[in-house]
Amino acid sequence: MICMNLNYMKVKESYLFADIRRRVEEWSKENPGKMILRLGIGDVTQPLTPSVIKALHEAVEEQAHAETFHGYMPECGDSQLRLAIAKWYQKRNIPVDESEVFVSSGASDEFGDILHLFDKSLPAMIPEPAYPAYADANVMDGREIIFPRMTEDFLPVPPEKEIQALIYLCSPDNPTGAVCTRECLEEWIAYAVKTKSVILFDAAYESFITEENIPRSVYEIKGAKECAIEISSLSKTAGFTGTRCGYTVIPTALERDGLSLNAMWVRNRTTRTNGVSYILQKGALAVFSEEGQKEVRELHEVYRANAHNFMKALEEAGLSYAGGKNSPYIWMKCPDPLGSWEVFDILLKQAEIVATPGAGFGASGEGWIRFSMFANEEDVKEAGRRIVLLRNEKYF
Ligand code: MLT
Repeated sequence: MICMNLNYMKVKESYLFADIRRRVEEWSKENPGKMILRLGIGDVTQPLTPSVIKALHEAVEEQAHAETFHGYMPECGDSQLRLAIAKWYQKRNIPVDESEVFVSSGASDEFGDILHLFDKSLPAMIPEPAYPAYADANVMDGREIIFPRMTEDFLPVPPEKEIQALIYLCSPDNPTGAVCTRECLEEWIAYAVKTKSVILFDAAYESFITEENIPRSVYEIKGAKECAIEISSLSKTAGFTGTRCGYTVIPTALERDGLSLNAMWVRNRTTRTNGVSYILQKGALAVFSEEGQKEVRELHEVYRANAHNFMKALEEAGLSYAGGKNSPYIWMKCPDPLGSWEVFDILLKQAEIVATPGAGFGASGEGWIRFSMFANEEDVKEAGRRIVLLRNEKYF
């Protein structure tokens, strides 16, 4: 009798970012004392903002006294935080009710957990190249994966064939930095409504959108509340990669097979988690205050300046790229005839720069390599300088 989930045999032995970490560690051991510039994983480098730190300290202090101590938190999230997130949407004329907001420990956790709501026979439709956790989590579940066509600008196109599926959309996109236009989202919503599919919209990078007419939430599009779940996180918007807090919106209007997905998620959360810690939720609440929002906007300026400097360096080096404008990721075309792992090796071994090979985001990412602009300012400038030198010395 088989007792294990054999689908684990179908995923690569290690996760993309674990694989890169291992390769960099091995190389560092053999080459001690090198100053490595880490533009690989999208991990933030700016500290948490003053409002968040103050709120965290206060919450810790509250836990030290019987009168202010908090035990278990509501599994779906602290009501103050749910309300603050709902209001933050409402301020942008997006009608989200606090009962539709669920506090989570981050988007990546949530993208795996949410699959529990869906039957394993429902295929996942994943526009590739894509954040590798989408496909890996579905393969582990034994789900079939369909790859819709992408335009040259990395915008996903709904298939002609009507397929009911779990549709992944990410905007600004990881890894390409492409942003879904209003028209692109309208097409997908029409497709999802027609096929009774459910869209999982990854909004983790929404705060990097600078263009006015680009939607920051799927719910800016009519009909989305009947077909889409929005999963977001404070990791990239407020520097919470190591602190962990995010949120998911499941509209009460979203039903499939006569079941409310919102009610199912309440049932799921109240059973399978005791929620996010009181202290972290207090920190998260501070992000949604007026002061908190001002501070995170300043934080974004640092990463935007990084993108600006790095794009300038790539242009000086005569290299083509996408992203970087509404996104903290820059998606560089590998110079012919090099593959993405070859460019990864040249960057690491000749210039001590860590990037993420496009092939790690799926077969269609081959020929590209991703740089994260979440690195610190000096490292990004130095990486730009080193890439210009590599080009001058004809390494690629
Ligand atoms: C990335 O580099 O793609 C992300 O930082 C990974 C993540 O958010 O888990």
